[in-house]
Amino acid sequence: MHLSSLFASFIVLGSLVAAHSGGHAELVNRAQHEARALQARKCAPAIAEFERVRRERRELRMGKRQEPSTTATAPNPHYSTIQNSTCVTAPEVIEGPYYIGNEYIRYDLRETQPGVTLVLDLGVIDTTTCEPFVNAFVELWSANATGQYGGYEGGDIKKDTFLRGGHFTNDQGIIELTTIYPGFYRGRTAHIHTMIHKDSERQANGTIISSSGTLTHIGQFFFDEPWNDAVYATNPYTTNTQERTLNSEDMWIEMAGDGAFVNLENLGSSLEEGLLGYITVAVDGNATYTYENQNTL
Ligand SMILES: *[C@@H]1O[C@H](CO)[C@@H](O)[C@H](O)[C@H]1NC(C)=O
Ligand SMILES: *[C@@H]1O[C@H](CO)[C@@H](O)[C@H](O)[C@H]1NC(C)=O
Ligand SMILES: *[C@@H]1O[C@H](CO)[C@@H](O)[C@H](O)[C@H]1NC(C)=O
Ligand SMILES: *[C@@H]1O[C@H](CO)[C@@H](O)[C@H](O)[C@H]1NC(C)=O
Repeated sequence: MHLSSLFASFIVLGSLVAAHSGGHAELVNRAQHEARALQARKCAPAIAEFERVRRERRELRMGKRQEPSTTATAPNPHYSTIQNSTCVTAPEVIEGPYYIGNEYIRYDLRETQPGVTLVLDLGVIDTTTCEPFVNAFVELWSANATGQYGGYEGGDIKKDTFLRGGHFTNDQGIIELTTIYPGFYRGRTAHIHTMIHKDSERQANGTIISSSGTLTHIGQFFFDEPWNDAVYATNPYTTNTQERTLNSEDMWIEMAGDGAFVNLENLGSSLEEGLLGYITVAVDGNATYTYENQNTL
């Protein structure tokens, strides 16, 4: 059972799924998972100190209500340090069929997609050092409010880029990305895919070279069901005609354990003003994973 409290956060361990073939995950064995859990637990004191400072700043109410950035400059993260770990869990989750490489480097992924704004405040910890993972490229991709992925509409590969892309963590290992709360689609509960890359090359046109550097993590983020219910009761999520799958029915959550739940709160006084989500992702900064899907922008 996922425990949610105001400051509780959950560490997401590095991907347990190193590679998959034919669309099926090959889960790395239990022993390897437990080794990772131990590795992350070792970092608990360091993470607790990050959280202490972060909480102090939060109590000063710094930044919480700042508007999501629509510019190319880095938004100030709502939380200035990486948060505590209250739980170390079994993760991780497959790439899935909807990755597209070489996406744009940007802080705001929304483009014109309607839906509840979601500002994700992500902290990344390198479990090999227990230090913030600085200059990691955090990439996200997710379905829109009616459960469709940019670039994969109607079965054709298109050049749409909505709700895709990412940016680099700052010197505190933190990044703030703005997207929308993802819609559900057949067989899957609400989730956001992520990859965390090290030493990624930037191209002159503002895109990343996905195959450059090292891929250190492949994962998915989830949300507590009451938040899904609340968001899915609003427009345009209500127009989603696909069959809904609950967290309790999602096979990837089951495999991931409790690890990848985002802590959410309202950015303003109501859901319509958007949500602030925060999560700490603990990755083995020296891990190397490969992604399967070779589609590129
Ligand atoms: C943060 O971690 C420390 C040490 O592990 C623990 O004592 C404290 O209760 C944690 N705080 C929260 C809010 O979970
Ligand atoms: C990870 O790589 C760095 C160099 O990039 C090295 O200093 C460190 O020892 C490595 N950690 C592990 C656990 O291998
Ligand atoms: C989601 O994307 C699909 C494909 O581009 C589009 O037809 C649909 O209108 C989008 N949903 C919303 C709510 O805009
Ligand atoms: C960006 O530049 C690279 C290298 O020239 C090119 O392969 C890629 O297609 C470009 N991407 C876009 C979106 O223009």
